[in-house]
Amino acid sequence: MSGEQLKLDQGLVMDAVRVTERAAIASYDQIGHGNEKSADQAAVDAMRTALNELHIDGKIVIGEGERDEAPMLYIGEKVGTGKGPAVDIALDPLEGTTLTAKAMANALAVLALSPGGGMLHAPDTYMDKIAIGPGFAPGLVDLDMAPADNVRALAKAKGVDPREITVCVMDRPRHEKLIAELRTVGARVKLITDGDVAGVIDTTDPETGVDIYIGSGGAPEGVLACAALKCVGGQFQGRLIFRNDDEKARARRIGLSDAEFNRKYNLDELVKGDAIFAATGVTKGSLLDGVKFGRGFVTTHTLVMDSATRTVREIRMKHPI
Ligand code: FBP
Repeated sequence: MSGEQLKLDQGLVMDAVRVTERAAIASYDQIGHGNEKSADQAAVDAMRTALNELHIDGKIVIGEGERDEAPMLYIGEKVGTGKGPAVDIALDPLEGTTLTAKAMANALAVLALSPGGGMLHAPDTYMDKIAIGPGFAPGLVDLDMAPADNVRALAKAKGVDPREITVCVMDRPRHEKLIAELRTVGARVKLITDGDVAGVIDTTDPETGVDIYIGSGGAPEGVLACAALKCVGGQFQGRLIFRNDDEKARARRIGLSDAEFNRKYNLDELVKGDAIFAATGVTKGSLLDGVKFGRGFVTTHTLVMDSATRTVREIRMKHPI
């Protein structure tokens, strides 16, 4: 597919905002109630309803799972009225179900749109990821470099000591070695319990204090975060991780060839064309405030980015109840 075909209608920017706002508002009732499943369900129902109102010929390429395990927003599901442009959709109606259930920071409703064929159809496996924000020479950091070397390279580019570099890492036993290596170079390590879409996007905003994200997390979340980085000119690399044959079979079913299993994907290979990325805060986090109910209205805070115009908008919206 040529670059020319991989363009998106600009009207979709505000459509994307309306979709994530609806999912976030629907999740509000579930904050702190300890039930991940019903929190996710509320967000899925609302996001699906909102998507089906859009005049697009939408296809879910990253969703809630395969058709036999996810009745709604499954991979391959068609959404929208069908009377509009072909759009590939990556979504996570509630990124951070546990964060929501436990009333913890950084739960988001997330959506990325791209023209048909514009995003990698990532299987529901893990992905090794590395990400930095905009403004650095291409290839400054690399998944194949040692984590300590990545920190040194970034520190040099920023003109600071490696001790001043903050690396966001998911707090998981699988990252023990990574964290130990980051400590050898003196980097600060910010550990997060969940929600690595926010962890990756934090690298784009100096206010968060995060300079670089390293580690493995969900592959679908990797593509979603990559869409955000594409919009602002950040850098991202990912490599799929397969733990068993079942995960490989899933990948084959959604069209990946065996040759693609071990390859390192650069940002433009994960998100080839234009992208629109929207995230609305469910609970207050590093980038966004959470949903707030007031007398007669509910307030949402959304970040929406558009790769075609390289714009980032923050939208605070008061919705009448
Ligand atoms: P939820 O399922 O609670 O939404 O968790 C999402 C998440 O924390 C992602 O942000 C991350 O990529 C992935 O889970 C990590 O998976 P694991 O918890 O298996 O390490």
